[in-house]
Amino acid sequence: MTTRREWLQRMLAAGALAVLDPRAAFGGDSTKAGLITRAIPSSGERLPIIGLGSSATFAQVARSEDAAALRAVLARMVELGGTVFDTAPQYGASEEVAGRIVQELGIGKQLFWATKVNVARRGGAADPAEARKQLEASFRRVGKPVIDLVQVHNMGDVRTQLPLLREYKEKGRVRYVGVTTTFENQYAELIETMRSERLDFIGTDYAIDNRDAENTILPLARERGISVLVYAPFGRTRLWRRVTGRKPPEWAAEFGASTWAQFFLKYAASHPAVTAITPATSRPDNMADNMAAAFGQLPDEATRKRMIELVDALPAA
Ligand SMILES: NC(=O)c1ccc[n+]([C@@H]2O[C@H](COP(=O)([O-])OP(=O)(O)OC[C@H]3O[C@@H](n4cnc5c(N)ncnc54)[C@H](OP(=O)(O)O)[C@@H]3O)[C@@H](O)[C@H]2O)c1
Repeated sequence: MTTRREWLQRMLAAGALAVLDPRAAFGGDSTKAGLITRAIPSSGERLPIIGLGSSATFAQVARSEDAAALRAVLARMVELGGTVFDTAPQYGASEEVAGRIVQELGIGKQLFWATKVNVARRGGAADPAEARKQLEASFRRVGKPVIDLVQVHNMGDVRTQLPLLREYKEKGRVRYVGVTTTFENQYAELIETMRSERLDFIGTDYAIDNRDAENTILPLARERGISVLVYAPFGRTRLWRRVTGRKPPEWAAEFGASTWAQFFLKYAASHPAVTAITPATSRPDNMADNMAAAFGQLPDEATRKRMIELVDALPAA
């Protein structure tokens, strides 16, 4: 008979293997076997729960002109079944460098390319002609005739820029539209926009130690049939600082998490309103670690509570 300890050890080994290659641990020979996906409410199209973001370290490396690591990161994500790539013209060289890599690797069709528009400065008005110019530049960078998702970045003049995105959607050049923010002082406007506009997507911050979105934004997204992209699932560097020198608990193996990244991502992924999470990374090994969170089990409600208790007891960052 297998003891609980032996079973946990086996699960941990599977988790460790999953960091190297999630398919080896959970998948069989098809890339997407065992991959957790969620439906976009407005269409039913399914997306893998883990993707890739491109601000933070990704943007730093994009700036450094040595794109080899980023090429490996994007290639690794696609190889492991990921599709969602979140970028913005505001992320320095990220959109341009990633667009070039995608064209060189010929993976444009496999990706769900999510970019943003915002030409409004500091809460001011957006010039529609300038916004169009920014959008056209995004099309050129990725070289796709149709972009999967464009969102109004940081709630910038939504009254001007959202109708413009709708126009692109009606012409078939953009498949989905939405709005984003990770700023607390914009949550009220985000909520109001979710209530009053027809949105396919929103993008907002949500992490195990940043659960405000659970109060109104995530339930409202479910009620209104809006997809949610989760940003900053590690609180950028905050959660990493909080767990420095600590190992994830052994019981995390019960839901297939062998690393802190998988622990944090599986927490966010287990909220039913979440469609996909886009952690940023500049490292192919971290990309594989993150993709491993898209395989295996997700924590149930009781386990989510246990996870919160553990994280709430960690030192502040
Ligand atoms: N308003 C908006 O539209 C908005 C705002 C914020 C964010 N976003 C989007 O959401 C994405 C994610 O947010 P974020 O980049 O701010 O923060 P994040 O994803 O919470 O954290 C990124 C940090 O985590 C590290 N990391 C990633 N995977 C790791 C792993 N497996 N193990 C250890 N460290 C790991 C990265 O460093 P390494 O490179 O060393 O892996 C980087 O320092 C952004 O890149 C962007 O695409 C959008």
